[in-house]
Amino acid sequence: MTDHPSRNFRPRVLSGMRPTGKLHLGNYVGALQNWVKLQDTYDGFFFVADWHALTTDYDDTARLADNTLEVALDFLAGGLDPERCAIFVQSHVKQHAELHLLLSMITPLGWLERVPTYKEQQQQMPNKDLHMYGFLGYPLLQSADILLYRPDYVPVGVDQAAHVELTREVARRFNQFYKLKDQPVFLEPQVLLTSSPKLLGTDKRKMSKSYGNSILLSDEAAAVEEKIRNSVTDRPKLSDQGSPDRCPVGNLHQIFSEPERLAYITRGCEQATITCVECKSLAIESVNAHLEPMRERRRELSRNPGRLMEIIRAGAE
Ligand code: TRP
Ligand code: SF4
Repeated sequence: MTDHPSRNFRPRVLSGMRPTGKLHLGNYVGALQNWVKLQDTYDGFFFVADWHALTTDYDDTARLADNTLEVALDFLAGGLDPERCAIFVQSHVKQHAELHLLLSMITPLGWLERVPTYKEQQQQMPNKDLHMYGFLGYPLLQSADILLYRPDYVPVGVDQAAHVELTREVARRFNQFYKLKDQPVFLEPQVLLTSSPKLLGTDKRKMSKSYGNSILLSDEAAAVEEKIRNSVTDRPKLSDQGSPDRCPVGNLHQIFSEPERLAYITRGCEQATITCVECKSLAIESVNAHLEPMRERRRELSRNPGRLMEIIRAGAE
C-alpha cells in the first residue's frame, strides 16, 4: 500500500470487463457478483474496458458505444454502488492510453508474444485477422489499466492471471529504469483469483452470448421463466436418474438456491424422485428472487435518464 493522498485505509482492488453487451448470468457469477462483494471491504475501481473491445472487433464498432453503456448499467443493477466504489469507462480516462504508450517503449515483444491468451484467442477466432499491433498489445493495455491506480489486488478469473503476471513484470522493469524520488513508480499488484462456479447455458453448452443459450441479468421474470422451462435437462426420461452438475437447471440451483432447496433437488434428481418440471419451477423462483432487486434498481435508474451518464462521468473523474 502507498501513502498516496487519494488513498483511504482499505486495500485497493481494480478490475475491468470488456463490453460484450448485456451481461448474462455466467458473466455475473464469474466476475460482477464477486466485485459487488468486494466493494464493502476494499477500495474498489471497476470499469468497462471499451478500448479492449477494439482489439478483436476493430472492424465492427457499430454497437460498441451501446454495449459499453449496457454493461455499465448492468454493473449498477447488479449491485455495484457508486457511493462505495468508482465505476467508470476506460476510454473516459485518457491516461490509460497515455500509460499504454509509455509502457510500450520498454516492453519486449517477446513478453507479449509469450502471453498464452495471444495464441489461444487467435486459434479460437480463425476467421479473424488478428495480426494487429493492438491485439498483441492487449495485455499491455491491461497492464496500464492496472498500474495507473496502484491497486493491491486485481480480482480476475484464472484465464486472466497471466495478464496480471505480465503486469508485475512490466512494473518491475519500469521501476528499474525510472524512479520517483528514489521510490518505485509502480506497485506490483497481486492477483485475487475469482472462482467461477460452473454454469451451463440452456442448451447444455457453456453459457455464451454467441450461442444464444444465455439468461441475461436484465431478463424480465417472464423471460427467465420461459428460458428455464425450455431448457435442456440431464434427464431425458422421467425415470432417468440425473445430476445437477450436468444440468443447466441444476447449475442454477447450485448458484441461486438456498442449501435446503439445493439438497432437495439434488436428491430428487439423483434418485429420480422429482420431475424436471418441478425442479424447473423451483429454479425459476430462486433465480427470479435473486434478480428482482436488480430489476428494481434498473427501474429506478430508468426513471432518471441521465443518471447513468452522471455516475460514470463522476467515476472517471
Ligand atoms: N482482459 C480482461 C478480460 O477479458 C478485461 C480487463 C481489461 C481487465 N483491463 C483489465 C481486467 C484490468 C482486470 C484489470 O476479462
Ligand atoms: Fe436438471 Fe432438475 Fe431435471 Fe435434475 S431434476 S435433470 S437438475 S431439471
